[in-house]
Amino acid sequence: MRITSSITPDAVDLDHVDLLDAHFYANGDPHSVWAAMRRRAPLHRQDLPDGRGFWSVTRYHDACRVLGSHDDFGSEQGSLLGQLGQGDAASGRMLVATDPPRHTELRRPLTHLFTGKALAGTEQRIRQAVREVLAPALGHEVWDLAQRAAMLPMAVAGVLMDLPQEDWPQLVRWTGMAAAPEDPAFRVKNGPTTLALAHHQLFAYFGEQYELRAGTPGDDVFRLLMTMNAGDGRLSVDEVVVNCYSVLLGANATTPHTAAGTVLALLEHPEQLRAVREDPSLIPSLVEEGLRWTSAASSFLRHAKRDVELSGGVVPKGDAVAVWVGSANRDESVFTDPYRFDVGRGANRHIAFGFGPHYCLGAGVARLTLRVFLQEALPLIGGWELAGEPSHLASNFVAGLAALPIRATAQSGNPGQAA
Ligand code: HEM
Repeated sequence: MRITSSITPDAVDLDHVDLLDAHFYANGDPHSVWAAMRRRAPLHRQDLPDGRGFWSVTRYHDACRVLGSHDDFGSEQGSLLGQLGQGDAASGRMLVATDPPRHTELRRPLTHLFTGKALAGTEQRIRQAVREVLAPALGHEVWDLAQRAAMLPMAVAGVLMDLPQEDWPQLVRWTGMAAAPEDPAFRVKNGPTTLALAHHQLFAYFGEQYELRAGTPGDDVFRLLMTMNAGDGRLSVDEVVVNCYSVLLGANATTPHTAAGTVLALLEHPEQLRAVREDPSLIPSLVEEGLRWTSAASSFLRHAKRDVELSGGVVPKGDAVAVWVGSANRDESVFTDPYRFDVGRGANRHIAFGFGPHYCLGAGVARLTLRVFLQEALPLIGGWELAGEPSHLASNFVAGLAALPIRATAQSGNPGQAA
């Protein structure tokens, strides 16, 4: 998906856009389409030749309304656009595919492992992983930041879930296949086959890990899922497995793209790079602007539980609604100069982590990872340049970079020392 673009909303023919098509996000310009929808069709209907159809919500306040009100818009028929018309086999058992009150029972016992003290011990581990990701920057070869960043979230998710480190590369591959099954880098035969394969491998993997852990002590997320009480008792093996899948996918599908996309934004806006290097106290605000700018989790699906009025019309009961997070985060009625990448942006109320009951469980983990990543990367970036065109992932769910080739600039004798 284009992260920067010259926005031309008036030129967009909204009758002929296909927001479902994964390849549109690799080759097209969704930001122009979303800008046109925010202005001319805030509730946009797309009907598919096979009889399925969905509404698109692109304005910030409508996005919050849909994501924030589970009484009106539910997640149990699937929370991803790719599930349109199919439902979710993990409905009512996996966090993202479950509405309150069951969702609250599943989520409440988990939250403390994703915040505060539980994370404090992981910072050093994250820094080490970041240095491994950035190691090629110290040489003069062309290297791909998007590819290397893929390993970044494992340093946290892998540790939080106590997953053996030798399994991490394979887990990164499978979660990549699950998040972007249509992308040429992941596709095996076709998208649905790729997705089925990824699900099979990941569920089998977590099933085996369950067996290995049974009866062993530990205070990781995996064992907590195995032992916690959720309302009416313990979770079934299947419930544990699908929630492990959800946590790992949540981490791996998003964090690397936010990290790589923020670096690209800094390379494209050298004055912003200068500002944050001169004043590192801006790093937390750079993290937030990077989250808004990249909006890596691009769309989420809900189904209306009754007729609900939104800007532009009424969503009839039972209909599917796609919420475009990347559009809401560029809404000109909420963000001043939304297409400006601004490391000093104040009051940045982006919804990159969602809104309402499903607000990202890993938001604290992700913020910590991104802060450490940028602390380590900033001294180096001044000595980098693009070594080719960045390419964008073919996915209607993840807005990310498939490739971000980097090399040291001719001027920087030692990129590690670049000022
Ligand atoms: C930049 C990084 C990340 C972004 C942009 C992001 C974005 C999101 C968004 C938008 C949602 C809401 C889904 C919905 O409304 O249906 C969500 C949910 C979730 N995320 Fe993240 N996420 C990130 C990192 C992580 C990490 C690091 C983890 C785990 C370690 C994680 C685990 C989850 C889980 C388990 C949920 C489901 C929560 C629920 O349904 O209650 N995410 N994430």
